[in-house]
Amino acid sequence: MIKIVNVVGARPNFMKIAPIQREMARYPEMDVHLVHTGQHYDERMSKLFFNDLQMPKPDTYLNVGSDTHAAQTARVMIEFEKVLNTEKPDLVIVVGDVNSTAACSLVASKMGIKIAHVEAGLRSFDRTMPEEINRLVTDVISDFLFVTEQSGLDNLKHEGIDDDKVFFVGHVMIDSLIRFFDKAEASTIMDTLQVRPDEYALVTLHRPSNVDNRESFVRLLDAFEVIEKDLKIIFPIHPRTRKMIDQLGLRDKVRAMRNLHLLEPLGYLDFVKLERHAKLLLTDSGGIQEETTYLGIPCITMRENTERPVTVEMGTNMLVGSDTDKIIRETKNILDGKWKNGQIPPLWDGKAAQRIVKIISEELS
Ligand code: UD1
Ligand code: UDP
Repeated sequence: MIKIVNVVGARPNFMKIAPIQREMARYPEMDVHLVHTGQHYDERMSKLFFNDLQMPKPDTYLNVGSDTHAAQTARVMIEFEKVLNTEKPDLVIVVGDVNSTAACSLVASKMGIKIAHVEAGLRSFDRTMPEEINRLVTDVISDFLFVTEQSGLDNLKHEGIDDDKVFFVGHVMIDSLIRFFDKAEASTIMDTLQVRPDEYALVTLHRPSNVDNRESFVRLLDAFEVIEKDLKIIFPIHPRTRKMIDQLGLRDKVRAMRNLHLLEPLGYLDFVKLERHAKLLLTDSGGIQEETTYLGIPCITMRENTERPVTVEMGTNMLVGSDTDKIIRETKNILDGKWKNGQIPPLWDGKAAQRIVKIISEELS
């Protein structure tokens, strides 16, 4: 038996672990235990995804909740150590770059338990971004580094990570997108919102650099004020962003936009349906840059950098920072039909989880 602990904590983790869990179920020699740290806990940031992605309930829920970085990371570590003491796994699998990713890797590494990092090697080269620290810490202590794009291979080589630990496997997030594409298409969210294909922009925002700072947030809202004159904006709002709108006194500014529709965070199937039929995405999400590249939908990323450069080099993504004029100009370009046609990056073919689990099986047997 190979005993494995899979870790999820925050929204972007669920669609990455789901295909791995499913694939592992096909290996009788794998005994899998799913841990949810509880970093995200609202029904719409967590439970909804277990239903939509047909995932088993977590075996252990750590219930850590929100706090400062140090307190949240510490709480995950304390609770996760207890799980590892009981479960004594051969391997811990972490995905992405959230605090739960780094916290659980650190615990496993100190207990001499092997770690696999899925989505390794991505770098924004911006250490003010909390995720960049999480990526660096996790990669340096991981035993298996599963990479989604060429830049990841280049970065890990440059950092001196042993080639033998690094595997180019494609992207589990795209596995989920492919698997649930038809099911998402059956969602009735567009009827509910009374929107038609290509007649709206879909917005998501949650980076602290954009929403925790009044000046940057206002620059983005100034752009939306111009865009909504020509195009309906659908904005499922992240809880951090909702909180900041109130704290920064921006509620009236947002409410005044009659053609901007604020929604609660959406479940995966509803979101993918809206994403696929949008005229464009305006986002600062990591994963959405990749999903839009796969779907061939124009994506304007409101960040100065990206740890996913393949989406800009090969895909449909463009970086604009928080520059009001640039956001307006590039949106207009898309509305005028002036946008690049992207390509799907290598190995984004729905089989990443198969490759990952096969490698784990061979390496640990
Ligand atoms: C986290 C990740 C980020 C990821 C994002 C995906 C870190 C450092 N950040 O950012 O990389 O892109 O998730 O969505 O790990 N909150 C709720 N309910 C919830 C969860 C959060 O109300 O279920 C609110 C709380 O006020 C909390 C705030 O959102 O303080 C931020 O949550 P947190 O998990 O700390 O960071 P995110 O901004 O969600
Ligand atoms: N997503 C969702 N509902 C939403 C917003 C996003 O299901 O209201 C999905 C999206 O399709 C993608 C993932 O959440 O699969 C991206 O997560 P997020 O933007 O929170 O995190 P990041 O990728 O920036 O770390």
